[in-house]
Amino acid sequence: MACVGIMDSGVGGLSVLKEVRRLLPGLDLIYYADSAYCPYGDRSAEYVTDRCRKITGHFIGRGCVAVVVACNTATAAAIETLRREYDLPFVGMEPAVKPAALGTSTGVIGVLATAGTLRGSKYLHTKGRFGDDVKIVEKVGRGFVELVEGGELSGEHVETVVRESIRPLLDASADRIVLGCTHYPFLRPVMEKIAGGSVEIVDPAPAVALQLSRVLEDRGIGTSGTGTVTLESSGDDTVLKKIYSMI
Ligand code: DGL
Repeated sequence: MACVGIMDSGVGGLSVLKEVRRLLPGLDLIYYADSAYCPYGDRSAEYVTDRCRKITGHFIGRGCVAVVVACNTATAAAIETLRREYDLPFVGMEPAVKPAALGTSTGVIGVLATAGTLRGSKYLHTKGRFGDDVKIVEKVGRGFVELVEGGELSGEHVETVVRESIRPLLDASADRIVLGCTHYPFLRPVMEKIAGGSVEIVDPAPAVALQLSRVLEDRGIGTSGTGTVTLESSGDDTVLKKIYSMI
């Protein structure tokens, strides 16, 4: 039975795996957390692309027939190169600016992402498309990835770190906050606590799972396997196992 590889710089892509498993429960998955090289957010595109090549080679060796790049930063840096260099389908991530721009009442949306994602040409193009109609306020979720990688998802310290980055979005009257990094959904309860009920958090993970199912169907790849999920990491897998047990 064919399997699909899901990769991220660390544990963040589990937020995508969760949605894939919900939609395609029979699909066999290998999740690869590149924890020894995390975070990717401030790295060069070349560095991230090289990591993606290594992980793709690993997935191919393990029999994967498709890859989900469950990392906005890696998608921005590498997905075009990967599609050119490998003969298997890649599904990537992109900050969900469109649904947020269509849904806002205040005319202001916030985008939380890594520096690498915010300077990517795909994001800049999307921003150009919607930037005339709505005001887009961007912020790097400083320290968010480190918190999630440390398995620290709640508490006073987490609230202080999260508040620092989302306060400017709220002060600018954003009523939609786009999660442009797959680690950030694990901090969503804290964000909702800080933001209150007036803000909607937008996570593209369900749309990515849907896109994967379309791609597999188009290629005639079956999804009714045993639903086995194999967790792999280039580093310590303690937090990977812990967060997996929570999703
Ligand atoms: N989870 C990643 C993303 O979606 C990257 C986080 C990082 O390694 O900086 O962008």
